[in-house]
Amino acid sequence: MTNLKVELSERSYDIKIGPEAFLLAEKAVRKLEKQNRPVAVITDANIYSLFKDKVQALTKNVIVLKAGEKSKCFSALAQTCSALADFGMDRSGAVFAFGGGVVGDLAGFAASCFMRGVDFFQIPTTLLAMVDSSVGGKTGINIEQGKNLVGAFHQPKGVFIDTDFLKTLPKREFAAGMAEVIKYALLCDEKLFCLLEKNALTRESPEMAKVIKACCAIKAGVVSADERETAKENGRALLNLGHTFGHAVEKCAGYGEYLHGEAVGLGLVLAARMSESLGLVDSECVSRTENIVRMYGLPVSLRSPIKPDKLVAASLHDKKNAAGKSKFILLNKIGGAFTRTDIEKSLVREIFKTAQK
Ligand SMILES: NC(=O)c1ccc[n+]([C@@H]2O[C@H](COP(=O)([O-])OP(=O)(O)OC[C@H]3O[C@@H](n4cnc5c(N)ncnc54)[C@H](O)[C@@H]3O)[C@@H](O)[C@H]2O)c1
Ligand SMILES: [Zn+2]
Repeated sequence: MTNLKVELSERSYDIKIGPEAFLLAEKAVRKLEKQNRPVAVITDANIYSLFKDKVQALTKNVIVLKAGEKSKCFSALAQTCSALADFGMDRSGAVFAFGGGVVGDLAGFAASCFMRGVDFFQIPTTLLAMVDSSVGGKTGINIEQGKNLVGAFHQPKGVFIDTDFLKTLPKREFAAGMAEVIKYALLCDEKLFCLLEKNALTRESPEMAKVIKACCAIKAGVVSADERETAKENGRALLNLGHTFGHAVEKCAGYGEYLHGEAVGLGLVLAARMSESLGLVDSECVSRTENIVRMYGLPVSLRSPIKPDKLVAASLHDKKNAAGKSKFILLNKIGGAFTRTDIEKSLVREIFKTAQK
């Protein structure tokens, strides 16, 4: 078991990582109960059927959401808040999110607004949630106009990452999580990149705990320095490497066609190609990026064609863009990235053209 601290002064918290982390989550629940503080668990139907005993061992106050992105909506939020009230949740209580990013985002948002905020813990069960969504305090839901448009910053009080949960994760979901892992390596950890390209890691690889810790350490460092993504340059926005391209692909192909991580995998390749076009990296950096994305079963081109103009328009509308300027995250080496806001539309179009089969 290893421990990592997210430094955010009075909002600092620990991330416990290892195959026994779930036991620590159970201990945390027992401690709260001893203090007569109400506890509730929010999970989804898949997790509940796979790990019913574990859910019930935590508490009898269980909210089971439908699995999938559709649960990040106002009606699921309303039902969750009503259930919390029925359980007798009060301001001294705590909510545990037990599941992937969907559960974490919805549960975290419910915890941020129920009685103006109750404590919240994360027990992530997907690789994406372990390396990304469970750390950093972004919570929220989707509305018709876009994903994650309604939400709050609400840091968890603790994160318990039990790598044993990876064993039941569908292979496609594991691959999608690996896209975020590759992203961190490309951003600032060349050593991690070399480890990932040496042998393709699997859900069972013993190195996974170490890899997850490396990713969480990078995210924790970035979040500590720029919690609310207000830095003009670099900062938390760096975590969007590959995402401006990826979000455009997800949107234009129709949400659900590509898993988020699949679109990000392709986005990383496109970010590397844009960096090469601007003379920031050499062709070897691009081919290594392509190879690693392919190696983890992620796409390096579009599965079916999408008009470049449509993709350009979607990428320029990405909500991360401040003051009408499109922000792109570019590489200057494997393990080095920075933000740029002066990218010509024509270049964005050229790069999207390379994504066509
Ligand atoms: N808050 C953040 O900072 C942040 C960052 C990145 C992504 N997100 C959000 O995360 C969400 C995606 O999260 P996700 O990829 O974890 O998706 P998810 O929560 O939908 O989980 C994917 C699927 O895997 C199933 N599953 C989960 N754990 C399992 C396990 N151990 N074994 C078997 N099946 C399991 C789930 O039931 C679901 O069907 C998106 O809504 C995205 O917006 C948030
Ligand atoms: Zn992502």
